[in-house]
Amino acid sequence: MAKNVLITGAASGMGLLLSQCYAREGANVAMADVNEEGLRACAEEIRGYPANVLELALDVRKYDEVERACGRVAEAFGGIDILINCAGGAECRILGVSGEFQNIPVEVFDYGIDLNLKGVIYFDHAVMKHMARQKSGVIIHLGSITGLEGCPDSVAYSASKSALMFGMTKSIALAGAKYNVRCVAIAPGPVLTRPGMANMKTMAGRAADPQEIVDLIMFAAGDKGRFINGTYILADGGRNVMLNKT
Ligand SMILES: NC(=O)c1ccc[n+]([C@@H]2O[C@H](COP(=O)([O-])OP(=O)(O)OC[C@H]3O[C@@H](n4cnc5c(N)ncnc54)[C@H](O)[C@@H]3O)[C@@H](O)[C@H]2O)c1
Repeated sequence: MAKNVLITGAASGMGLLLSQCYAREGANVAMADVNEEGLRACAEEIRGYPANVLELALDVRKYDEVERACGRVAEAFGGIDILINCAGGAECRILGVSGEFQNIPVEVFDYGIDLNLKGVIYFDHAVMKHMARQKSGVIIHLGSITGLEGCPDSVAYSASKSALMFGMTKSIALAGAKYNVRCVAIAPGPVLTRPGMANMKTMAGRAADPQEIVDLIMFAAGDKGRFINGTYILADGGRNVMLNKT
């Protein structure tokens, strides 16, 4: 039977690639993003595949929008099998702010936490209602090597990714256990969803091709990944064991 997959941050990068890959496999794909125009164009292209595609223009920071969207997906597809929380990003990069930590307005960190941490809690919460009812499901968090090594430029991003990889993934796995719902975090090193990522050093001497991370996410979310739960998988080209990581 076709899987029902809900992907946030689906108008760009790995969220978009995941939407394309799942659609190619014949899944029903719900694509959520705040970039309404970009989302429309991406969903339109994917409609050419043999798949059911649902576009959800929403802001992950607004629980009423998230809850309504999850209800729409469950109704349209008859359930939600997989949630992949891709929406996220470093607050200073997204808001175009730079400077030392103490000189950055605190509102920037509010934004970073709302997007990278609260947005995921909101989605997990809204989706768990449906997964608990159907007694199955998989929830994927996108962590980051930054959640392990820290980042003075985007403190809220780094803190959120740590929280997602550890406390959140364990807690959601525990909350979902009696409903047969798994939760796994995938923590990439640099991924070439934008050219700047090529500057981050790895032992592999390169950043990841987005497809390499998408393949891992699909493995962890699929039946072959059924023994993985409550933990994170690091895919960073060996960056974590390098001494000079600048
Ligand atoms: N690219 C990397 O090097 C890298 C490394 C480690 C982790 N990650 C994580 O992987 C995930 C995907 O990364 P990417 O580079 O493919 O992303 P991306 O920047 O290409 O896309 C992020 C998407 O999220 C959407 N978005 C932003 N704010 C939103 C909001 N409030 N509500 C809904 N949608 C919103 C954007 O419109 C965009 O389409 C992110 O969580 C990122 O932190 C990326």
